[in-house]
Amino acid sequence: MTLSTRHLLGIKDLTPQDITTILETARQFKEVLQRPVKKVPSLRDITIVNLFYENSTRTRISFELAEKRLSADTVNFSASGSSVSKGETLLDTVNNILSMKVDMVVMRHSASGAPHFLARHIPAAIINAGDGVNEHPTQALLDAYSIQEHKGTLEGVKVALIGDIMHSRVAQSNLYLLKKMGADVIVCGPPTLIPKHIGEAFGVKVEYNLRRALEWCDVANVLRIQLERQNQVLFSSLREYNLAYGISRRLLDSLPNDVTIMHPGPINRGVELDSDVADSGRSLILQQVENGVAIRMAVLYLLSNQSSA
Ligand code: NCD
Repeated sequence: MTLSTRHLLGIKDLTPQDITTILETARQFKEVLQRPVKKVPSLRDITIVNLFYENSTRTRISFELAEKRLSADTVNFSASGSSVSKGETLLDTVNNILSMKVDMVVMRHSASGAPHFLARHIPAAIINAGDGVNEHPTQALLDAYSIQEHKGTLEGVKVALIGDIMHSRVAQSNLYLLKKMGADVIVCGPPTLIPKHIGEAFGVKVEYNLRRALEWCDVANVLRIQLERQNQVLFSSLREYNLAYGISRRLLDSLPNDVTIMHPGPINRGVELDSDVADSGRSLILQQVENGVAIRMAVLYLLSNQSSA
């Protein structure tokens, strides 16, 4: 099995068949992860560098764990982006990677398009672990895996993406993926956090009323308020945001339907999601994290060229 692309820069570039192949492969790796010995030799001769220019807990650990489970050699390259200008940093990176002769690069960067730049300059396979406000493809893939595992399918599942759509690379990757796989999608949040033409661009409905969005959906994927990316006041206060768009147990209990809750983490507890929702049986949040390792194993494996051998 192979993919139609050499890199994973975004879901935008994947075909529905690519997505199906990744989800299928992840299913096999999830089985490996249930065994007492959770390691396979698939990437034994492969060297991977993890380049994280932006903070990360889950994504970084998840990629590192996936690489170790596949027996790859890994190098971690950290840079503090703050004191170096963006162009210099990326060119430096290119030269560093070329001299290290690595096979694959996992990259997170605060600049949208940084992994695309890298892909044009070095021969290694590039995996985007989140670029600015653009895409976070492995997050969308693990979200899709979790929905499929829970609902049995992606086709026709009603998914509401709720919150800070404007600054969320997770939302963008989810929109591409869910539309390609035939899910029904709406976006919901305050008008100031929803890009103006998103409805036409993705063929999705925009709903400003949280209750109506929740009454409609099977799955609510709740996004973090990305305060670090907001350079102007887009809502009056976190407390007011919580009153209008926060998801509480009481709100969920008052709905006629059962809504499954997802969140990519890190959660702002008490802002977009209350603790008694995040930690409840309706939440897939920890399954998402678990599935993330299998998804990243699948992506690394399929892009390593070992899969066609
Ligand atoms: C997301 C990210 O970094 O884009 N987190 C993650 O990778 N799990 C979402 C976020 O930061 O809110």
